[in-house]
Amino acid sequence: MRIDVISLFPEFVAQCAAFGVVGRAGERGLLSLHGWNPRDYAEGNYRRVDDRPFGGGPGMVMLIEPLRASLRAARDADPAPAKVIYLSPQGAPLTQAKVRELAGRERLILLCGRYEGVDERLIQAEVDEEISIGDYVLSGGELAAAVVVDAVARLREGVLNDAESAVQDSFEDGLLDCPHYTRPVEHELGPVPGVLMSGNHAQIARWRRMQALGRTWQRRPDLLDEATLSKADRKLLAEFREQLAVAAPDAGANATVDSVAVNPGCAQGTRND
Ligand SMILES: C[S@@+](CC[C@H](N)C(=O)[O-])C[C@H]1O[C@@H](n2cnc3c(N)ncnc32)[C@H](O)[C@@H]1O
Repeated sequence: MRIDVISLFPEFVAQCAAFGVVGRAGERGLLSLHGWNPRDYAEGNYRRVDDRPFGGGPGMVMLIEPLRASLRAARDADPAPAKVIYLSPQGAPLTQAKVRELAGRERLILLCGRYEGVDERLIQAEVDEEISIGDYVLSGGELAAAVVVDAVARLREGVLNDAESAVQDSFEDGLLDCPHYTRPVEHELGPVPGVLMSGNHAQIARWRRMQALGRTWQRRPDLLDEATLSKADRKLLAEFREQLAVAAPDAGANATVDSVAVNPGCAQGTRND
């Protein structure tokens, strides 16, 4: 997959993508990341990329021409058609479903704004989609672009090995992931839930599903409203809630059915509905 980043600080995104699985994807040729700096396409001695907003007011606005020339150069660098995405707080929220959709493409061009943003005419003429990484305002689109690169690259075939597989991750099936444990079995912070040590794969899968359902109910009930639950899922969730009510009537967001019995103090809040 090829991703081009148009940014006044393209090295920022490249650095973020240089580590871990995404860094290895780059080394193995599964991801090729290219930066384009609008300043390199700006005219005049000062290589201006911004100007004052018409109508007055604070801040500066990114000029059309340096961005347009950068986009043209990025497009021309590879014949494959590219989707142009402007990272913007006004865009559609980034979700795992959107990440999966983007990971199915061969080329993306990510446009990062700075200052007050980009001249609206460039967005209208050149941008296919606007994406936001959350309801807050960053000083530039680079962090948001790095988020997109990371989330998309790890879903490309061959990037994650089996042990890091994404299929059980949060949001993949509309639920949050279950809790995870590793060695040691006994620790002053508590034991590992017994079922995980049982070797009974059916029971382990059942426990994990129950925890995923329970966690989602506790922490992100909005996801549960959207998810399609089977009859078996509903039974598991009811069981989770019954066990939780018995084990720790006041337990909340961080509690698992096993962990509340061990450590009721880890609860953060309470759901009563
Ligand atoms: C200071 S912001 C401009 C904010 C703009 N005046 C507004 O209120 O919509 C500068 C740049 O940061 C990026 N940015 C800021 N917040 C973002 C977010 N939540 N998601 C994606 N990009 C964001 C955009 O590229 C934006 O052009």
